[in-house]
Amino acid sequence: MTIVSPSVLSCDFANIQRDIEMLNLSSAEWIHIDVMDGVFVPNISFGFPVLAAIRRHTQKVLDVHLMIANPDAYLSDFASAGANVLTVHVESCTHLHRTISEIKRLGMKAGVALNPHTPVSVLEEIIVDLDLVLIMSVNPGFGGQKFIPSAVEKVAKLTALIEEKKSKALIEVDGGVNLENGKPLVEAGANVLVAGSFVFGSSSPTDTIASLVNL
Ligand code: DX5
Ligand code: ZN
Repeated sequence: MTIVSPSVLSCDFANIQRDIEMLNLSSAEWIHIDVMDGVFVPNISFGFPVLAAIRRHTQKVLDVHLMIANPDAYLSDFASAGANVLTVHVESCTHLHRTISEIKRLGMKAGVALNPHTPVSVLEEIIVDLDLVLIMSVNPGFGGQKFIPSAVEKVAKLTALIEEKKSKALIEVDGGVNLENGKPLVEAGANVLVAGSFVFGSSSPTDTIASLVNL
C-alpha cells in the first residue's frame, strides 16, 4: 500500500473546507501542503493561517513542503500551525544537519527535498538522520507540470542508499505524478506519492486516490 498525499495546491481555495472533508473520507493518509515564498521559487502560495485552518478540519498527517528561502527562521511557526512532517529543500539550507535536528526537536518528522538537478549522493552523510526524502519530479513552483522521467532512476538510487546506510527514511515523489508513472515509482521504492492536479482534476478524486493507494 502506498501513502498518497494529495496536494491542496490544486484544490478549490474558495471551498477548502469542503475539499479537506473529501480528503478526510478518502484513503489518503497524508495531506500535502506546498508553501512558496516567491524567492526560492517563482510563485507564492500560502502560509501559516491557511495551514492552521486546514489543521482545524483534519486528523490526517499534514505533510508540509517548504519551498522558501531561509526556512530556519520559521520552523517553530510551522510546528505551532500543526505540521506533522516538515520538509526543507537541501538547496535552501546551508547547515542542513542543524535544520533537521531543530525540526525533530520541535516534535515533527524531518524531510529533505531534492530539486531535479540535485544528486541523491548529497544525502550520503545525513540519510540516517532523515525521516523522509522528497524527490522532485518537476521543477518546484507550480502544480500541473509534466513529470520528469529520470525521477524513477533517482528513486532507485535513493532506495539503494537507504538500504546501504540502514536508514528508515521514506521516499516521497512530488510533481506530475499519475497512475502511469506511479507504478514504476512504487516499483523503484517510492513510499509516498504526492498528486495535485491528477487528483483534484479528476471526475472522482476519491476513486483516483484509491487507485494510487493500490498501485
Ligand atoms: C510543485 C509542488 C507540488 C505540486 C504537485 O512545486 O511541490 O506538490 O502541488 O502538483 P501536481 O501533482 O499537479 O504536479
Ligand atoms: Zn510539493
